[in-house]
Amino acid sequence: MKKPKLSLLNFLKIVPDRVEKIENAPDKEPKPSSSYKANELAASLHPAVQYLTVSAITKLSDDVKLFRLTPGKAAGTKRLAPFGAGQYISVTVNAGGCTYSRPYSIASSPLEAAEFYEIAVKRVKDGIVSNYIHENWTVGTAVTASDPCGEFGYEPLRDAKTVVCAAGGVGITPFCSMAKAINEGSESFDMVLLYCARKEEDLIFKSEFDAMSGVKAVYVLSDEEKPGFEHGFADAGLIKEYAPDGDFSLFVCGPKAMYKFVGSEAKKLGLRRKFVRKEVQGEPTDPQNEPDYELADKESYTVTVMQNGTVKTVVCGADEPILRALERGGVSAPSRCRSGECGFCHSRLVSGRCYTPASCDGRREADKIYGYIHPCIAFPREDITIEVPPAR
Ligand code: FES
Repeated sequence: MKKPKLSLLNFLKIVPDRVEKIENAPDKEPKPSSSYKANELAASLHPAVQYLTVSAITKLSDDVKLFRLTPGKAAGTKRLAPFGAGQYISVTVNAGGCTYSRPYSIASSPLEAAEFYEIAVKRVKDGIVSNYIHENWTVGTAVTASDPCGEFGYEPLRDAKTVVCAAGGVGITPFCSMAKAINEGSESFDMVLLYCARKEEDLIFKSEFDAMSGVKAVYVLSDEEKPGFEHGFADAGLIKEYAPDGDFSLFVCGPKAMYKFVGSEAKKLGLRRKFVRKEVQGEPTDPQNEPDYELADKESYTVTVMQNGTVKTVVCGADEPILRALERGGVSAPSRCRSGECGFCHSRLVSGRCYTPASCDGRREADKIYGYIHPCIAFPREDITIEVPPAR
């Protein structure tokens, strides 16, 4: 094909040519934007909402159930959005007249998304959502969820070829997906898994890892000593023992105490910052333990919420994340990660003051300067007024 000549004259003609074509175009209704191929593709990759159906439930332990979710075709989701191993979906439930959301990592593999997602839900003491799910979801239950999101995946431009993965509790789920992705060939890094638990019976995905050939799985028990298992914790010594010489990445997902512990052990190993990554889902529920904790002068404060032209007031405990108070008060606020990272709950602080722990503050500098907060990780320190975007 003959290449067009590059000339300034051709360049200057682009706009007049386009204007002429627009003016001479037939006078008919434009196609709705949803009928363009690019928009169809974007909607299938990033649907605003996914309607799912519980198609199977497996009890993994006394307090953990695995839910298989398939497209809710009758509700309008024909196929599941694809995802990268390590991502999560945010699930919405209506309990007691209020709407709550919670993020759950996808435990199934990216290729399995052609048919289903699987999420593991651990029942948490006093946890509104986890208890609701355990008690109410049965085969056939309709579920509303977000598209897959999150950045906790392998990125070859940033991460080392070998990744040591430290997992505890249901924090094993993103690593289940990564391991399956390696086995099916959709990921290609070397995975060394340090799967930590108190006792062998708590290693709820052990049989799955035992059956996989492409991953080196090491089981670490803190409360039992048994042949074939490491005893103790994922400390610097154990990580070094199983890590290769040279560079490696360290991914961590588990209970909150694990981040602090493994994070300080990583410092002993002198790992570069980019090689240490963690997946935290859920708000900081114990701000008192933060090194920069700011004492409150009252037990609770009022939060006046402006949203969509309406004004509502809710009460928020001094050590309660504002997002929780909003949900409890019947305000439908946008959220995804609930840990300060995604920015989905980004809201304007109109007046008053909040405390945000530095350890999870994922706001941009401009947001801090111009008074924006992430209600999922912010705690009131005065009566406040905030402007919350409508839930999507
Ligand atoms: S929900 Fe992600 S930052 Fe608040």
